[in-house]
Formats: sequence, C-alpha cells, structure tokens
Amino acid sequence: MAELGVLTDAAVLLDGRAIAWVGPRADAPAAATTVEVEGVMLPGFVDCHTHGVFGAPRLDDHERRALGTDYKAIAAAGGGILQSVRDVRARTEDDLTAITRTRLAALLAQGATTIEVKSGYGLSLEAELKQLRVIRRLAGAQPATLVPTFLGAHEIPPEYRGKRKEYVTLLCEEMIPAVAREGLARCCDVFCEPGVFSPKETRAILATARRHQLALKLHADELEGSGGAELAAELGALSADHLAAISDAGIGALARSDTVAVLLPATMVFLGARSQAPARRLIDAGAAVALATDFNPGSSPTMSLPLVMALGVSQLGLRHAEAVMAVTVNAAAALGLAGERGQIAPGFAADLVVAAVHDWREVAYWMGGSVVSAVWTAGSACPAVSAPVS
Ligand code: NIG
Ligand code: FE
Repeated sequence: MAELGVLTDAAVLLDGRAIAWVGPRADAPAAATTVEVEGVMLPGFVDCHTHGVFGAPRLDDHERRALGTDYKAIAAAGGGILQSVRDVRARTEDDLTAITRTRLAALLAQGATTIEVKSGYGLSLEAELKQLRVIRRLAGAQPATLVPTFLGAHEIPPEYRGKRKEYVTLLCEEMIPAVAREGLARCCDVFCEPGVFSPKETRAILATARRHQLALKLHADELEGSGGAELAAELGALSADHLAAISDAGIGALARSDTVAVLLPATMVFLGARSQAPARRLIDAGAAVALATDFNPGSSPTMSLPLVMALGVSQLGLRHAEAVMAVTVNAAAALGLAGERGQIAPGFAADLVVAAVHDWREVAYWMGGSVVSAVWTAGSACPAVSAPVS
C-alpha cells in the first residue's frame, strides 16, 4: 500500500472517457488539445461509503452528544437513524433529489469522482425505492459516477418494533427482490451490530442479496464487536466497513480474504470516540485498507475525502502513500471497480483530480483545507462547484 508511482513533469493522454497513455511529458504522443496543469494530479478519488440521500442535518443529536449522551442513547431517545427515517419518508423524490444534488456536488468538488451512495433512511419498500430512485436520477444528471447500495437493513423501523423477524422476512421476500428487479442497486449492505442486526440475521439477508446478484457489504464491528468482519470475509463481501471494534480473529480473516477493510476515521472523531480502527494492524497483517467519508447526518457530516485522508494519517497511523491508495485503488476495489477506476493508467476511466500543492503528501496534510483545484470525470472538466448543502 505504500508503493505509489510518482512521476514529475508528466503528461496524461485522454481518449474520450478513458486514459490512453501516461508518462514523461517529453515522450507524450501528439494530442488534439492540450491543457496545462500545475500542481499534483491524482486518480479521481473513490468515496466507497456514503449515506448521501437524507434530508435535514441532525443538530440536536450533535448537541446532545456534546453534552455527554452517547450515540445509542440518543437513538433510544428518538434521535438517531429513525429521525432521518421520519424526515426522508415525509419528503418527495423531487425534494430529496434537489438536496442530494448539491451534496454530491460538494463531494465532487473535494475530489470524489466515484461515490457509493446507500439507501437506508426509508426502511419501507416505498421509501427505500424512493431513495434509490433519487440515486438513479442523479447518476445520469451530474458528473460523478454513483454506485447505489441497498441498506434496508440499517435499523428496525418503528412499525416493526418487537417484530424484527417479520422485518427480516420483508427485506428478504419483498424489498431485495424489488430492488433487484428494478436494477436499482449494485450492492446490498447490513448494519451488523449488537442491538441492530445480529450476525445470524445479517447472514440471512446477505444470502438473499447474493441470490439476487447483488454484491455484498457490511457495517461491521463499528461500536461493539460481533464477528462482523469474520462474516464479511466468509461471505466474500466486497468490504467490511467501520471495524473500530474488530477482533484479532476478524483481522486475520480479512487479511486472508479479498474483502477490503473500509475505515471511517471522521465518524469516530465526530462521535467523540477515543478509539479508532486498528489500521496499522490490519495493514501489517496483509488486509487491504480503504478510507471513506461515511457522509451521513448522524455520525459523519463531512464531504471531504482529503480531510479523511489527513485523519487517516493522524488518527489511524497511515503513511501518506497509504492514505492515497486508500481513496483510490483500494476504495475502487471496495466497490468491485479495481479494474477500471482509481489509477492513472491506460484503459482506466479518465477521472482525475488536481491539487494545487507542490508535494503530493500535502493532499493528506492540509487538514480541512480545500486543496482540490480541478476535477475531470469521464474525460471532461467539471465546472467549479460550491453550493449550499443544507
Ligand atoms: O455508518 N452505522 C450506521 N450508519 C451510519 C450512521 C447513520 C446515522 O446515524 O444516520 C454510520 O455511521
Ligand atoms: Fe455508514
């Protein structure tokens, strides 16, 4: 993960939506148009974990937590995920589309050219489909590539309190088949956590998802360990995400598998947690580590992958090169896109980010700064963006 190819005085040749050539500027093939770029060019970043479709920010949760109440107690008191569920259910698809468009623009402006977006604030067939349709509409209507993930198993909805078995049945027998039938998601995710979905329930839901040709992802071992990482590796999931409470057995299981460990340091910082996922131990054991924003209204309202990279260095002990790998090559692998995104190499998507800095390590250094000065997706320059997000 620490082996980056760094070229100075380089040129990149684009052909339509793909990269055709990269190498020393002196050897560059002739091109129809030339654009001079100053600074450092990187592969477009891949944000492989967001909950990008939601309504209002959760400011009361934020304040209660500042005053000492923890994430689970806030949820039990009517805040948390279910507050965003009430909000999303009440909004129209058009309204959600307009809000999400501005937030995706903010993610893109900070360099995210491929963005995974989860549902999970609907928790009914109709409201989950509404979220996924928002993603589908925006996939063709703004410059970033979107990867939709069905997260109907984000929480037990209020009307299924005390009837969790029936909700799991609804997920498996109605929601997953409907999502797959309409082609609305590429992946299926489950919040596998004590008090949310157990490993047994997670296994049943993901087995159904796999039968419907969805790739698998898990929110695993976020706040307390429950064997989520081991389950992700066993099921051949694309990724196991969070992992602040991963066990030694979980680290070993991920290291022996192709499942990517997606770490979300901004979440632990925003929640005021004192701990972070054991990134060094994961890397040293041989696991592939990616970083993502976890952009969501409850635990990570950040739209900046460069900020997350800086937290990766200062909170997780990653080297700068590992932080770059974690938002490019490995993040693409966490979405099953390692062969087409996350590298400046012939045949890869012409998604590029320029940072107005002198040394590439500065991208993971200016904590909370705006280092990204230009973005290309599918070979086209993106207009400068700064829009309201709330
Ligand atoms: O990844 N862990 C579960 N889901 C989100 C939080 C969602 C929310 O609080 O709205 C997460 O941290
Ligand atoms: Fe998440």
